[in-house]
Amino acid sequence: MKGLQCIAILGLGLFGLVSATSNDSIKERDIPFDLNGSKFVYPWPVKLYQFETQRKQRLEMAFMDVAPTGPPNGKTAVLLHGKNFCGPTWKETADKLTAAGYRVILPDQIGFCKSSKPKTYQFSLQQFAMNTLGLLKTLGIDKVTLIGHSMGGMLATRFSLMYPSNVTELVLTNPIGLEDWKALGVPYINTDISWANEQASTYNSIRGYEQATYYVGTWAPAYDTWVNMLVGIYSGSKGIDYAWNQALVVDMVLTQPVVYEFHLLKPKTLLLIGAKDNTAIGAQWSPPAVQAILGHYDVLGPQVAAMIPNGKLIAFPDLGHAPQIQAPDRYHEALMGWLKTA
Ligand SMILES: *[C@@H]1O[C@H](CO)[C@@H](O)[C@H](O)[C@H]1NC(C)=O
Ligand SMILES: *[C@@H]1O[C@H](CO)[C@@H](O)[C@H](O)[C@H]1NC(C)=O
Ligand SMILES: *[C@@H]1O[C@H](CO)[C@@H](O)[C@H](O)[C@H]1NC(C)=O
Repeated sequence: MKGLQCIAILGLGLFGLVSATSNDSIKERDIPFDLNGSKFVYPWPVKLYQFETQRKQRLEMAFMDVAPTGPPNGKTAVLLHGKNFCGPTWKETADKLTAAGYRVILPDQIGFCKSSKPKTYQFSLQQFAMNTLGLLKTLGIDKVTLIGHSMGGMLATRFSLMYPSNVTELVLTNPIGLEDWKALGVPYINTDISWANEQASTYNSIRGYEQATYYVGTWAPAYDTWVNMLVGIYSGSKGIDYAWNQALVVDMVLTQPVVYEFHLLKPKTLLLIGAKDNTAIGAQWSPPAVQAILGHYDVLGPQVAAMIPNGKLIAFPDLGHAPQIQAPDRYHEALMGWLKTA
């Protein structure tokens, strides 16, 4: 009897470790065109992972689940988007992976893109990791090749720290969080100020930012797709809530560093770094002396690669924050080459 009770309690404890409950579900039909404030047309059918989280709110994570187009290799890749992107931005990478035999999962995180825009939610990288694991569990996926860009790279790092046995390979593409901005002098701003900043987002403000940090001052018409995708959400039916969620995301990445834990990463890890990137959260509202020391990816890439026990760096000296968009051929050659040998 005592033993049984013990097993029951242990069972409950383990159950509580993951967000997935038996009431999680996947919705595949009757997905509205204006989905949680985004009308952007996705390249593959959008599904909804519905789950209970934080005071039993029932929220939805939109995702795409793409089957291999080449002979299946039995592996699943999960592609995590950055703050200014959504699942579809990974289209070309997903095409390369499915051709190589991977099943590919492309989630939109809570507060982003076509996922729920809750008015009250404690945004944390841990919560995002847990939500993503819950999605995988509901789909019956055990181990993944985890690939993250920008904020998605910071999240992929946190996910790998929390669930090392579920990540076979980790790929970080210009991840943020390679330094602790607040420790380097970025002042804290409250979320209402961030909210106002987010609400002031326009085509010009987003393009100006991306041109300077993502594309080394250059611009190509194809980049407009991703700016307009965001403008559509800021000006869409959930625009105010989206701006609020994004303000909480800024707070999240500023206050939840991962840089102190790179040495604890277990999976084989590839860092793909456009070395001309100068992304640094909070640099915009920091004094010039602080700005000057932030976001040097040419230095941060090698520095962090050396911290990761099984880490490898491939740098693109001439590229910025989004090498997969700026030079897709070079980026995918490096990525697919490493995955083959990993
Ligand atoms: C599962 O969720 C649905 C929708 O929110 C709810 O109606 C139902 O009561 C829940 N079932 C359980 C067992 O929690
Ligand atoms: C997100 O969209 C789904 C589908 O329309 C809807 O059921 C849900 O209520 C939306 N979530 C929020 C938080 O608005
Ligand atoms: C993660 O890996 C552990 C150990 O292999 C496994 O028990 C668990 O089911 C995995 N989680 C998911 C969500 O697949």
